[in-house]
Amino acid sequence: MDAIEQLNAYQKEIDQAAPLSADELEQFRIRFLGSKNVLKPLFSEIKNISPDQRKGFGQQINAIKLLAEEKYERQELQISHAGQKEAAQQMDLSRPGYPLELGSRHPVSLVMNKIIDIFSRIGFSIAVNREIEDEWHNFTALNTPENHPARDMTDTYYIKNDWTHILRSQTSTVQVHVMENQKPPIRIISPGRVYRNETVSARSHCQFHQVEGLYIDKNVSFVDLKETLLYFAREMYGVDSRIRLRPSYFPFTEPSAEMDVYWGLETEIDHRITKGTGWLEIMGCGMVDPNVLENCGIDPDVYSGFAFGMGVERQAMRMFGIHDIRMFFENDMRFLKQFKSVTL
Ligand code: DAH
Repeated sequence: MDAIEQLNAYQKEIDQAAPLSADELEQFRIRFLGSKNVLKPLFSEIKNISPDQRKGFGQQINAIKLLAEEKYERQELQISHAGQKEAAQQMDLSRPGYPLELGSRHPVSLVMNKIIDIFSRIGFSIAVNREIEDEWHNFTALNTPENHPARDMTDTYYIKNDWTHILRSQTSTVQVHVMENQKPPIRIISPGRVYRNETVSARSHCQFHQVEGLYIDKNVSFVDLKETLLYFAREMYGVDSRIRLRPSYFPFTEPSAEMDVYWGLETEIDHRITKGTGWLEIMGCGMVDPNVLENCGIDPDVYSGFAFGMGVERQAMRMFGIHDIRMFFENDMRFLKQFKSVTL
C-alpha cells in the first residue's frame, strides 16, 4: 500500500469508527490524535509523493486530522450524555428530598412592615431616599441652620475629607426631598436606616431604623395629628391603647410633642421599661414649622401639615422582650431563627 492508499484507508476507518465506551474512545484518541498517532509517519512520506500530487496529499492529511478531532468530540459528548442518562435511570425518585429550610424575617423588618401596613391603610405611601446626605436636607431645610444648638442634639457622622456630606442622622431628610419634588397633598411615610456617632451599648447603637411620617394639605390641624397617632397606637399596641402627648421641642415642628403609649405598671418589668411611669415614649411629632414649608417651596399661608418620627428598634425590643440592641446587627442565627413563626 503506498502512502496515498494508506491515507484513504485511515480516512475510511475514521469515518466508520463509532467508539461507544470510554475505553474505545481512548483507543481512538491514541491511534489518531495521540503523540505517536498513525498519521504522523505519513508527513515524512510527503517528499516521496510526485510533485503534482504533493499539495493535495498534505491538505488531505490535515483534513483527516480535523475529521478525527471532530469525531472524537462528538463521541465524547455522546458517551457523557449516555452516562448521565444511565445515572438518571438509577435515581430513586421515591426518596424523600432534602428539606429546604425556611428563612425568617428580621425582627426589625417585622416591626417596620407592621408600621408601614398600618399607615398604608389610611392612604400613606412609601417614600425612600439616600443615606449619604448633604447638610441642607439633614439640617438647614429642616429649620436647623448652622450654629443652631439643635445640631448638637445628635452626634452626626461627617464624610472624611469632605465635611459637606454626612450619614443622615434622621429620616426627616426624606420630608425635604418629597416636598421639594411633589405638590401637596402629600401623605408619605419613609422607613429607613439612620446613623449617629453614639457609643455602642446594650441601649444605643451607631445605626438604627426610623419611620418618618408627613402629611401636608390645606387645613391640616393638630387634631388630625392626634387622631392619626391614636389610630396608629390602637393598631400597633391593641384596641384599648391610650396615648398622651407631652410638649417637646424639635426644630422642624411648631408646636412639637412627644407621644407616649400606656403600657401598664403591674410587674417589675413594667416599672423598669416605663421608668416607673407606666408610659412608653414612642415618637416625636408636631405641626410642620412654616419655615420648613417655605424652605421646600410650599406656601405656608395655603398649606399646613404634621410630621412624626419614630425609632423601630426600641419598639421591636419591647415587643419581643429583647434587652440588647446590638443583637439586631450581629446576624447570629440562634437569635434570628427565633422569629420564624412570628407574624405581627
Ligand atoms: N427626627 C426626629 C429624631 O430623629 C424624630 C422626629 C420628631 C421626626 C418630630 C419628626 C417630628 O418628623 O415631627 O429624633
